[in-house]
Amino acid sequence: MSVITQTIVSLEVDKLGSLEMMFANRTANVGIIGLGYVGLPLALLFTEAGFPVTGFDVDFQKVDKLSRGESYIYRVPSTEIQAARRKKFSATVNYSDISRMDAVIICVPTPLNEQREPDLSFITNTAEAITPYLRAGQLVVLESTTYPGTTEEVLVPILEKNAHGMRAQRESNGIEHDSFYVAFSPEREDPGNSSVARCDIPKVVGGLSSRATELAGALYQAIFRRIVPVSTPAVAEMTKLLENIYRCVNIALVNELKLLCLRMGVDVWEVIEAASTKPFGFQPFYPGPGLGGHCIPVDPFYLSWKAKQWDFQTRFIELAGEINVSMPYHVVNSISTALNSVRKPLNGSHILILGVSYKKDVDDLRESPALTIIELLKQQGAIVSYNDPYFPALLKGRHYDLQMERVPLDNIGEYDCVAIITDHSDYEYPTIVRDAQLVVDTRNATRGIDSPKIVRC
Ligand SMILES: NC(=O)c1ccc[n+]([C@@H]2O[C@H](COP(=O)([O-])OP(=O)(O)OC[C@H]3O[C@@H](n4cnc5c(N)ncnc54)[C@H](O)[C@@H]3O)[C@@H](O)[C@H]2O)c1
Repeated sequence: MSVITQTIVSLEVDKLGSLEMMFANRTANVGIIGLGYVGLPLALLFTEAGFPVTGFDVDFQKVDKLSRGESYIYRVPSTEIQAARRKKFSATVNYSDISRMDAVIICVPTPLNEQREPDLSFITNTAEAITPYLRAGQLVVLESTTYPGTTEEVLVPILEKNAHGMRAQRESNGIEHDSFYVAFSPEREDPGNSSVARCDIPKVVGGLSSRATELAGALYQAIFRRIVPVSTPAVAEMTKLLENIYRCVNIALVNELKLLCLRMGVDVWEVIEAASTKPFGFQPFYPGPGLGGHCIPVDPFYLSWKAKQWDFQTRFIELAGEINVSMPYHVVNSISTALNSVRKPLNGSHILILGVSYKKDVDDLRESPALTIIELLKQQGAIVSYNDPYFPALLKGRHYDLQMERVPLDNIGEYDCVAIITDHSDYEYPTIVRDAQLVVDTRNATRGIDSPKIVRC
């Protein structure tokens, strides 16, 4: 190696070392793209750790609210936004600020389209928007859940179309002075679960090169106690999908067993409780009215779509999807049968839906089975009302347009049937059972209450 080349390499090593140093001493500028359920809490964590943080979002209203110190996510109090703003947190819609960032973390949505295929448009739009402002030495991390190959096959090629000819650093390139670094690191949060602090959830990181993995690990080390480096972005992408598919398949299994138990007159909840006493080899999953949220009903289909490119059928995923999708129909049938038992038709009956968010104690409606159940009930002529502490109104969403307003709980006895779809902690179930004419319980929320009015389904 010539003296000149040696000097350039050592200069670059210094520069790279200094990025790590900036992560360690919290002086690196961190940009978070997509300030939703994942991105906003992450931005607050980095701010809390002492970093100057800029949040980017295309939604003017969200950026406006944050700039006024207001929150739009229930579990993030406005006081946290105000505290972050007093530190070094700001939000913007202006992508040109990307050039000031040392690390950029992408947390944009990855939904399915109408054909239930991956919709990567949020990732590609983000990549196209940041490419003009990319600079050498920056670290770009994708956190959005997606199929294995997205980082290398979709994100990197767009970023490499930059006007300066900069490339993402790969193992084969060695250390180049005009490259940027790319990694994938999945978000593993469980909304509403306060039993594990976010910093205690180990952070899986897979870089395009070992250097990118190291840098991403150094960044996340500021807020996560344990970093789990893996060999490639595809391994990290597949890790997240395995975790979600594991949940999806096991929930389908208990949903199917519940249907059998109902026919056999066996209490599936008691069975799960008893099986959970086994100290090894069993993890409990619980049946419900159907899957909801942005992750479990959606993510497995990212993999089954990708698998088809390899002439491969992911049969567990398809079967689990079939069972889970049928659950809201089972609930509607159960409501109809329960009404029938008291000589009332579904058509014309007044039904009160309790809980519309997709799971207990969260303010998230995405893919919620309650929305499908309301639509199915209305289609059959039922007169449907709802109550949920988190949603004063149900307006237009991606797949529905209900235009309903929340009703109070003070005249429960006037409804022909009360259906517990989401078992929020705020509800007083003994009072609900006492006052209602008929209760259909999809969550075992009325466990321990003995009443002929209760139909568990
Ligand atoms: N919500 C969860 O609990 C959870 C858990 C694990 C993983 N994930 C994954 O994290 C990702 C984000 O999910 P989320 O729940 O935070 O979504 P979200 O819809 O709550 O937030 C996404 C944000 O991105 C913004 N956005 C969209 N396009 C943009 C663009 N081009 N530039 C800047 N901002 C843009 C939206 O306005 C929105 O504020 C998804 O891939 C999801 O699968 C979510």
